[in-house]
Amino acid sequence: MIPKSLATPLLALLCLALQTAAVSKKQWSKRSDHLYLPKKINDYKIATAPNNVTVRYKNPGICETTPGVESYSGYVDLAPNVHVFYWFFESRNNPAEDPFTLWLNGGPGSDSLIGLFEENGPCMIDDNLTAVYNPYSWNNVSNMLYISQPVGTGFSYQKQGVGSFNSWSEDFHYNSSEWPATGRWPLLDPLNTGTIDTTDLAAVATWHVFQALLATIPKFDAKLGALDSARDFNLFTESYGGHYGPAFFSYFYNQNLKIANGSMPGYPLKFNSLGIINGIIDEEVQADWYPEFAVNNTYGIKAYNDTVYSYAKFANNMFNGCRYQIDLCRAAAEGNVSYYHVDAKITEAELTPGELQVCNEAADMCRDNVESPYYFYGGRGVYDIRHPYEDPDPPSNYPGYLNQAEIQEALGVTLNYSGTNGIYYAFQNTGDFIFPNFRLDLEYLLDQDVRVSLAYGDADYICNWFGGQAISLAVNYTHTEEFGSAGYEAMVVDGTEYGEVRQYGNFSFARVYESGHEVPYYQPVAALAYFNRTLFHWDIATGEKQVTANLTSSGPANATHTNSFVPLTSSIIQEFPIPIYPTATAAASGY
Ligand SMILES: *[C@@H]1O[C@H](CO)[C@@H](O)[C@H](O)[C@H]1NC(C)=O
Ligand SMILES: *[C@@H]1O[C@H](CO)[C@@H](O)[C@H](O)[C@H]1NC(C)=O
Ligand SMILES: *[C@@H]1O[C@H](CO)[C@@H](O)[C@H](O)[C@H]1NC(C)=O
Ligand SMILES: *[C@@H]1O[C@H](CO)[C@@H](O)[C@H](O)[C@H]1NC(C)=O
Ligand SMILES: *[C@@H]1O[C@H](CO)[C@@H](O)[C@H](O)[C@H]1NC(C)=O
Ligand SMILES: *[C@@H]1O[C@H](CO)[C@@H](O)[C@H](O)[C@H]1NC(C)=O
Ligand SMILES: *[C@@H]1O[C@H](CO)[C@@H](O)[C@H](O)[C@H]1NC(C)=O
Ligand SMILES: *[C@@H]1O[C@H](CO)[C@@H](O)[C@H](O)[C@H]1NC(C)=O
Ligand SMILES: *[C@@H]1O[C@H](CO)[C@@H](O)[C@H](O)[C@H]1NC(C)=O
Ligand SMILES: *[C@@H]1O[C@H](CO)[C@@H](O)[C@H](O)[C@H]1NC(C)=O
Ligand SMILES: *[C@@H]1O[C@H](CO)[C@@H](O)[C@H](O)[C@H]1NC(C)=O
Ligand SMILES: *[C@@H]1O[C@H](CO)[C@@H](O)[C@H](O)[C@H]1NC(C)=O
Repeated sequence: MIPKSLATPLLALLCLALQTAAVSKKQWSKRSDHLYLPKKINDYKIATAPNNVTVRYKNPGICETTPGVESYSGYVDLAPNVHVFYWFFESRNNPAEDPFTLWLNGGPGSDSLIGLFEENGPCMIDDNLTAVYNPYSWNNVSNMLYISQPVGTGFSYQKQGVGSFNSWSEDFHYNSSEWPATGRWPLLDPLNTGTIDTTDLAAVATWHVFQALLATIPKFDAKLGALDSARDFNLFTESYGGHYGPAFFSYFYNQNLKIANGSMPGYPLKFNSLGIINGIIDEEVQADWYPEFAVNNTYGIKAYNDTVYSYAKFANNMFNGCRYQIDLCRAAAEGNVSYYHVDAKITEAELTPGELQVCNEAADMCRDNVESPYYFYGGRGVYDIRHPYEDPDPPSNYPGYLNQAEIQEALGVTLNYSGTNGIYYAFQNTGDFIFPNFRLDLEYLLDQDVRVSLAYGDADYICNWFGGQAISLAVNYTHTEEFGSAGYEAMVVDGTEYGEVRQYGNFSFARVYESGHEVPYYQPVAALAYFNRTLFHWDIATGEKQVTANLTSSGPANATHTNSFVPLTSSIIQEFPIPIYPTATAAASGY
């Protein structure tokens, strides 16, 4: 077997887990100094859903400090080996009537607590591990549910084990004489593999978790009022959430229809909106924009030279290149390598090992050759082109906060917290990254009565807005033409222009200025407005007009705003691993 290139694991570690940067090196080494095992916890309260799933909960009383605004955290025990962590925050406004929103980060394997603590939750964690009140928290306008999924992510676990993770492969090691144990960690079952390795499987699993929570949260949170078919439901997500969002929402949406017409038991809600922030929805459409963004972005930054640019472009378009291999995966999945249907989904369960390999190889080809030259030759931030590759922003203090005994007790967790888990590689092995399914799901949703709001920070490289704009224009649905001919209108909040947005009816694409990947971190005012306007059917540009079926943004055909150039203040030089040759004596005695 030819070993995989160096690029792939580096990406997984530093960037491609599209948000594993969550655990900073500083926190990591601080925690590996000693072995620390959280205490066992026995004081959960229990609520049982009608399907006999138990939900353990505590009322942590941390992070949200607004008097009278409660939160609940704990586990949904879906099966003897599936325990999914969640944290629910009441709305700061009117929990009994406000909408119900699920937030999911991407990865795959990035925890939704990244969003909670770095983006849109009630508190942010400062350098002294103090929780600081966030006035722009999204629970100002909605009840907020954060779920750590797929199981294995964050505090969610299949099993628990004392040992350590290999930070490159994310494999777990029990043998503490070879790999010093650093804590008690969440494990996958089977070890290092788990059973959820595609977005579509994650959607089904998270649906069950979600239903158990809908059944039980009103039991333990009296303030919430009835969660019934009158309550608005929204899903907001980011990054690999470009996969999760369309797939989860369309699966949930169809389950909801069955519940509503009585053909399935469960808790129906009013499916209102899907939000995707800097999402990777369809690599086939978005790949070509990596090299474009690297050299010709609105910041006037040319991150690499023409040699590297030509390489990345050629790698995308050449025979057997990224696009070709994506098509090959799609054709192989249909069992006809000379032909594929643009409107056919890939069902992973039906793929043979060979077909899985073709898709996995295509994803590697794209990531290694089209996307990642920037990481090695650009010197600039994965999630923010204005910053150096070793990006201090957003500060990742929250894992340190979560690894404190009193915080773990408050939340009801007995595990150490890490951004590392095997989920990323499990997904990589299936080729889920390049499946066409998510564009198709999005097209389906756009033809339903669902509001879809895309927002892309314009400094992010990894899911850049050029690619986001391209996918917004490429989706094929009833109003493709009307959407495409709507103009870019300034997105204004309290007199300040934060971006520009194209909108037709329920569908919008917003470019947010001066923002990296985690838009609510960089532009909290604009992000809250985007959220609020989406939820309550206001136009994204002004928040002054209620959305109608033919609401049309007006302005130029292109988003032409330019940003000021940001010089690179520091840079790192990537190095190849150094080979260690056997000593003369060992070589002589051995072979
Ligand atoms: C739940 O458990 C109870 C008691 O063990 C049992 O009577 C009931 O049939 C179970 N319900 C379901 C839906 O499995
Ligand atoms: C953290 O604590 C140090 C020492 O008490 C103090 O100087 C610093 O201002 C604190 N930082 C923050 C962000 O509160
Ligand atoms: C969010 O709600 C709190 C009151 O709960 C309020 O003080 C704060 O100003 C609100 N933030 C915004 C941006 O409206
Ligand atoms: C753990 O590693 C040590 C050192 O390599 C080895 O001697 C020992 O047999 C290992 N233990 C297990 C249970 O594999
Ligand atoms: C209920 O809705 C689902 C999804 O739309 C549909 O497939 C099913 O046929 C409906 N069943 C009934 C009894 O109407
Ligand atoms: C950069 O992009 C602009 C607008 O898309 C285009 O007009 C221009 O030719 C591009 N420049 C280069 C050097 O590719
Ligand atoms: C472009 O950059 C690459 C990587 O640094 C370098 O190897 C190559 O020589 C450069 N090409 C030119 C024409 O400067
Ligand atoms: C593959 O699809 C093409 C186009 O529909 C068709 O002509 C051809 O016969 C198919 N080949 C196989 C092996 O099914
Ligand atoms: C869009 O979908 C329609 C109907 O399915 C189809 O006829 C058309 O060819 C598609 N257009 C593109 C550009 O894929
Ligand atoms: C939500 O948007 C509406 C319409 O623009 C506005 O009146 C309201 O103040 C906004 N709420 C928040 C919390 O920003
Ligand atoms: C939207 O539709 C309404 C009613 O059909 C019509 O009066 C209005 O002019 C349309 N607006 C736009 C922007 O096309
Ligand atoms: C303007 O946008 C259209 C798509 O709406 C695109 O085809 C065209 O290349 C863009 N022009 C420039 C100069 O970027």
